[in-house]
Order: sequence, then structure tokens, then C-alpha cells
Amino acid sequence: MRTVAVVLAGGIGQRMGAGRPKQFLEVGGRPILSLAVAAFDAHPGVDAVVVVMAAGHLRAAAALTAPYGKVAAVVEGGDTRTASTVAALTALADEPADAKVLFHDAARPFVDAATIDRVLAALDDADAVAVGVPSADTIVEIADGTVAAMPARHTLVRFQTPQGFRLGVIRAAYDRALADPALHATDDCGIVHRYLPDVPIRVVAGDERNLKVTHPLDIVIAEHLATETETV
Ligand code: CTP
Ligand code: MG
Repeated sequence: MRTVAVVLAGGIGQRMGAGRPKQFLEVGGRPILSLAVAAFDAHPGVDAVVVVMAAGHLRAAAALTAPYGKVAAVVEGGDTRTASTVAALTALADEPADAKVLFHDAARPFVDAATIDRVLAALDDADAVAVGVPSADTIVEIADGTVAAMPARHTLVRFQTPQGFRLGVIRAAYDRALADPALHATDDCGIVHRYLPDVPIRVVAGDERNLKVTHPLDIVIAEHLATETETV
């Protein structure tokens, strides 16, 4: 059974405001992109890694990921994360429909082998898998600055990545999504949930250390995590 990991690094890190994409920033002396790619390269269940990068940074990404033998391609992404996922799916055109594919945010350098294990194991009998962590904060839905709904906290999780799919299923979801002029989604499970509502999305446990480096404060946290996290 083929397993391919896609590391999505096509963003430009507007919220970080570092003047270059945040995945090139170093934590613990290594670029965030390298840490994310290394986690999948070192995982025995992963056969190949595809990196998606913003135009203009392809050469830098190729140079950074060259040491990782499973990196099969560095492809150009799109203006949105969704467009970058589509670019990856195009690059995977020759992979079989029953392949397992994992989509991971390059901005999450501390994904660990146990999390990848849980996603891959769940994909043995589920077509779509997400990782979720409980929320310490209460999360509410607002409309016009006022609370519109207050779901019970114990029913909520925050999604991280990797999100895993059978390739044929995520292809089918994107085929429908791309035919929708009102397409909007922030992640790949969102596409499956919206366009293939009959496909259950299994949720396995995530890990608080698998944070998405987003704002400048996250670099401070990531530097600290780098000193106490075993990376590959
Ligand atoms: N991503 C991508 N292609 C895009 C946008 C995002 O591959 N067009 C990737 C990012 O590189 C990141 C992941 O998706 O690894 C999650 O996105 P996010 O944290 O929002 O990163 P950025 O879009 O770079 O940051 P910002 O939204 O602050 O600009
Ligand atoms: Mg973004």
C-alpha cells in the first residue's frame, strides 16, 4: 500500500510578517520546513514526500529538502491553501486511488511519529482522518459581535494536521469542490465534509506540541519546544 505525505508550504506567512515565508524561519537552529519534511521522511510508513511551495521560492525549497531522500517532487502551489492542495493532487496523478495521502502544514514543525502512526492506522478502515485536540478555551459562534451559539466545550476539538485520506476520496471531493463557484475551505477535511457529506471523518488524538507557527509569539514558543522535543 502506497503512502504519500504532502507538505504544504505554499503560503507567504502574512500574519508572521517576517518578510519571507515563515517556513524558512529557523527554530532550534533548523528551518521549520526542514523539520516538517524530516518528520515524514523518517517515518517508516511513508513512501514519498511531495512539497508544495510558493512560486519564487521553489529553488530554495528544493535546496532545503534535498537531504531528504523520500522527497519526490517540489511543486508550485497556488494563491490559497486549497489551490496548493490541488497542485499536490495533480502531482499525484499517477498514484493509485487506494493510496494513503497525508496533507500536512509545513508550518507545524513538531508533528511526531506517534501522531502520523495514529492517522495511518485509522486510514486502514476510514477514508478521511483528522487529528484534533481539546480546546482549553470556550469557543463560541458569533454574529455581528454577539454570541450566536455556544456549543458545549466537550463536543469541540481544534483540528491540526496531518489530515489523511484515501487518494480516490480526496480526489472525488476536490472534483466536486472545483465545480462550485462558491468554493471556500480552510482545510482538506472541510472539503470532504462539504462535498462528500456521507464520508465519515474519523478524528484521532493530536498533540499540543504540534502547533501551527502563525504569529511572532509562536516563534518564541517553538524555540522553547525545540529545546525539549526530540526531532529527526
Ligand atoms: N499554504 C499553502 N498555500 C497557500 C496558503 C497556505 O500551501 N496558498 C500552507 C502554508 O504554507 C502553511 C499551511 O498551508 O504551511 C497553513 O497555512 P497558514 O498557517 O495560513 O500559512 P500562511 O498562509 O503562510 O500564513 P498567513 O495566512 O498568515 O499568510
Ligand atoms: Mg494562510
